[in-house]
Amino acid sequence: MLTKPPGIEDIFPDRIVKWNRLVNAARYVFGLYNYREIIIPVMEYTELFTRGLGNESDIVTKEMFTFEDRGNRSLTLRPEGTASVVRAYIENGEYNRLSSAKFFYTGPMFRAERPQRGRLRQFNQFGAEFFGSSNPYYDFEIIAMGDTITKSAGIPSYTLKLNSIGCPECRKGYIADIHEYYTARKERLCEDCRRRLEKNALRLLDCKNESCVALKKDAPLLGQHLCEECREHHAAVKGHCDAAGIAYEDDPYLVRGLDYYTKTTFEFVSSSLGGQNAFAGGGRYDELVARFGGSPTPAVGFAAGIERMLLLVPDAETDVPGVDYYVLHSGGTTLAPALRLTASLRSMGCSVVIDPDAGGFKSQMKKANREKAGHALIIGEEEAASNTVTVKDMTQGTQTAAGYDAFLSSIRADREKRNG
Ligand code: HAM
Repeated sequence: MLTKPPGIEDIFPDRIVKWNRLVNAARYVFGLYNYREIIIPVMEYTELFTRGLGNESDIVTKEMFTFEDRGNRSLTLRPEGTASVVRAYIENGEYNRLSSAKFFYTGPMFRAERPQRGRLRQFNQFGAEFFGSSNPYYDFEIIAMGDTITKSAGIPSYTLKLNSIGCPECRKGYIADIHEYYTARKERLCEDCRRRLEKNALRLLDCKNESCVALKKDAPLLGQHLCEECREHHAAVKGHCDAAGIAYEDDPYLVRGLDYYTKTTFEFVSSSLGGQNAFAGGGRYDELVARFGGSPTPAVGFAAGIERMLLLVPDAETDVPGVDYYVLHSGGTTLAPALRLTASLRSMGCSVVIDPDAGGFKSQMKKANREKAGHALIIGEEEAASNTVTVKDMTQGTQTAAGYDAFLSSIRADREKRNG
C-alpha cells in the first residue's frame, strides 16, 4: 500500500467543516480591517529564507525542505509566509508605491520537524502582514485581529504573551549581557546553543531543550536595555490593548524563533496544546523590507497554525452537513423522471444525491439516512405512471404524495422567496 510521508496529513470532509468555519472567520475579520488576500508561491529561492529568517534559526538550520531544480538552483518549500509576502511587496512596484499595504494569506507551509500532536511537516497557516507605518497602532491592529479570530473560533481559554525585543541598537547591550550570562554556564547548554552563543546569543532564549529552558529562568532581562523610543512604542501597544479590553501577559523572554523581529513580539498560547503551546504568533519586523533590497519600510504581522487552532476549537456542531434531497427510483422507466427531477432541483441550487444503480428501496432509504438527507423523493413505477413524486420528510418521518410539476414549482417558489 502506498502511504503518505510522516507529518503530512489528508484532511477528510469531517474535518473540513470545522476547518472552513475557522478560515472563513479569519477571512471575515481580515475584511473588517481591510486586509486583502494575496496568494504567494509555495516554493521560493532558498536564499529568501536564509537571508530572511536568520542563518541560526532552527527553521533554516534544520527544518527546510530544500532541493535543486533542473537548472541547479536551490529552491525551498516555504516554511512560513512573511518572507514571501515581503519579497512580493518589493517586487510588485504598484503595491510598494502605496503609503501602506495590508495583505492576508492562507495555505500550506513546510517544516521538517519531528512530527507529534500539533506539529506537522506540512501544516497550514493564515496570516496577515501590514507595511508602511511604525505607529504602534498597527502592532495593536495585528494583535486585535488575532484575538478576534481566536474568540470567534470559540477557543475557550488562551493567553496572549507580549514582549518587546527592542531595535538593533538597544539590543546590542542586551546581547552582551546574555552572552556573558550563558558563557558562564556554557557546560549546561545543549550543543546547538553552545554554537549559537557566539553567532546569535538571542536565539538561546528560544531553545526548547530542558536544561536551556531551566537556565532561561535567571537570564538577564531586556527591559532595562530598551531605548526611549522602543520603551514608548511598547507602552503604546499595551495601552491600545488595555483600551480595547485585550488581555495579555508580559513575557520578557519571548524572542520567537525567527530573526527578523524588532520591537513587538507576541504569541497566543494554550496550555491544552502541551509542549507546542503556541497556536499563533507574530511581531514587528521594521528591517526586513530593506534587508531584501526594498526601500526601508516598517512592517508588522502574524500567522496562526490552522491545525493547531483546530485542536482547540470545540467540536460541537461540526458535523458534515446533510444533502437536501435523496432521489429514490426503481430503475427501468423510473430512471428518466428521477434524473430529470435531480437535474431540476440542482439547477435551483438544491444538493441532491441519486444512485443510478437503484437497488431496493430499503437500501436506498438507508443511504438517504447516511447522507443525512432532509427529504427522500421516491419515484417508483406508480409515481412514474401517474407523474407524481412521493416526498418523505426525513426528520418528521411523514410522507406525502405530490404532482411532479407542482412539487418542483413549490420548491422553486420557496427558493425564490428565500433568495429575496
Ligand atoms: P511561527 O510562530 O513560526 O510564525 O508560526 C506561526 C504558527 O504556525 C505557530 O504559532 C503554529 O500555530 C503554526 N506552526 C508552526 N510550525 C508548525 C508545525 N510544524 N506544525 C503545525 N503548526 C505549526 C511565523 O510563521 C511567522 N511568519 C509569523 C509572522 C507573520 N510574523 C510576522 N508576520
